[in-house]
Amino acid sequence: MDKKTVRDIDLQGKRVLMRVDFNVPLDDGKITDDTRIQAALPTIQYIIEQNGALILMSHLGRPQGVDPKLSLRPVAERLGGLLGQKVGMAPAVVGDEIEALAKALKPGEVLLLENTRFESGETKNNSELAEKLARLGDVYVNDAFGTAHRAHASTVGVAEKLPAVAGFLIEKEIKFLGKAVADPESPYVVILGGAKVSDKIGVVENLLNKADTILIGGGMANTFLQAKGLEVGESLVEPEALETAKTLMAQAGEKLVLPVDAVIADDFTNDANQQVVTVDHVPPGWRILDIGPETAALFKNELAEANTVVWNGPMGVFEMPSFAKGTYAIAEALAGLDAVTIIGGGDSASAINQAGVADKVSHVSTGGGASLEFLEGKTLPGIAALDEK
Ligand code: 3PG
Repeated sequence: MDKKTVRDIDLQGKRVLMRVDFNVPLDDGKITDDTRIQAALPTIQYIIEQNGALILMSHLGRPQGVDPKLSLRPVAERLGGLLGQKVGMAPAVVGDEIEALAKALKPGEVLLLENTRFESGETKNNSELAEKLARLGDVYVNDAFGTAHRAHASTVGVAEKLPAVAGFLIEKEIKFLGKAVADPESPYVVILGGAKVSDKIGVVENLLNKADTILIGGGMANTFLQAKGLEVGESLVEPEALETAKTLMAQAGEKLVLPVDAVIADDFTNDANQQVVTVDHVPPGWRILDIGPETAALFKNELAEANTVVWNGPMGVFEMPSFAKGTYAIAEALAGLDAVTIIGGGDSASAINQAGVADKVSHVSTGGGASLEFLEGKTLPGIAALDEK
C-alpha cells in the first residue's frame, strides 16, 4: 500500500484520534453482530501497546441529529469487554467538554466519542467540524474501511488537518481487494448475486477483462434470464436494467454463466409451496427465490480450478431458510478451495458467517458499499485522504 500506516509514525505519548466503523447491527439496543468491533481490535491494541491515548470515533446508523437510540454507548461496553479494560464514553462528539476529556486521557486509555452523525456537519464534510475533531488528537488514524467510500468530516476533513495514516484493517482490506482488482492470479472467478443488477453493473464492467468467469445468481440473475427471452413469472426483475443485461451478456460471451435451474415458490414466504425447475420452465404466478441444485453443482465445477475468487451477493433469499441452500452451497464450495477467496461485505459476509465457514476463506471484507466501490475500481476518498508513504 502506498499510504502510511500506524507502523510508520511515532505514537508514544500521542493523542491518537482514530476513525473506526462501529456501524453494527442493533436489536433493541443490543449488538447482534460485533464483527466490525473485532476487526478494529488489532489496531486498537497496537496503539495501546505503543502508549498512545486513544480517542475513537464512528457513526452508527443514519440519524438526523441526536438520537439516543443510536448512541454508541453499547459499543463502548462491548469494546471494553473485548479489550479487558475500561472504554470511556464521551457524552458528545466535539466541544469544550470533549476537548477536556481528550486532554485528560492518559497513555494506554481509550475514549469513544458519541455517534459522529449526531453532528449535522459530519456527512457534509464541514470544515469547522473537522477542525474541532482535529483539536482532539495529535495524529489521525483511519481504520474504518466500511466508511472509506464516504467523504465525511471524520473520514476526509480531519485527515487533511492532522498527520493521517491507515490502521491494520484498512491495510488488510486493500491488500486483498487491491490484488483482486489489479493483479489477480488466474483462473479468476467472480460470483455475483443479490437483488439488483444495477448495484453490480460497475463491478461487472471493471472485472470483465480481468476475470475468466463471472457466475451470476440471486435476484439479479432473473433480469439476465428475462433479457435472454425466458419467462420468469412473478420473479423480481429490474425492467430498466434489461438493456444493460443484454449489453453485458454480449460483451462477456461465455465468461458470464447464468443459473440453469431454480428453486421457485408460489409466494414470498418461507413456507410457500416450492419446487425445482429448469430456468425455461418457470410457470406463471411462481417466482425464483434460489438457485437450484444443478446450478450449485455447475458453479462448484467452475470454481474447482480457480486460484482467485471474489464473491459478492447471495444466491437467493437466504434470510428464509427454505431458500438458503444455494447460498450455503457456494459458501461451502469456497471454504473447500485452495485459492485466494475474498468475500465482499454486506449480505455475503453474513452468509459466510451463518454457514460457519468464515475462518476457511482468505478474507471477509468489513465493507458493504465500500468493497463494492473498490471492486468497481473507484477511489475511496477516506483512503485517498491519507498521507503517502
Ligand atoms: C456501512 O454499513 O456500509 C457503512 O458503515 C457505511 O454506512 P452508510 O451507508 O450509512 O454511510
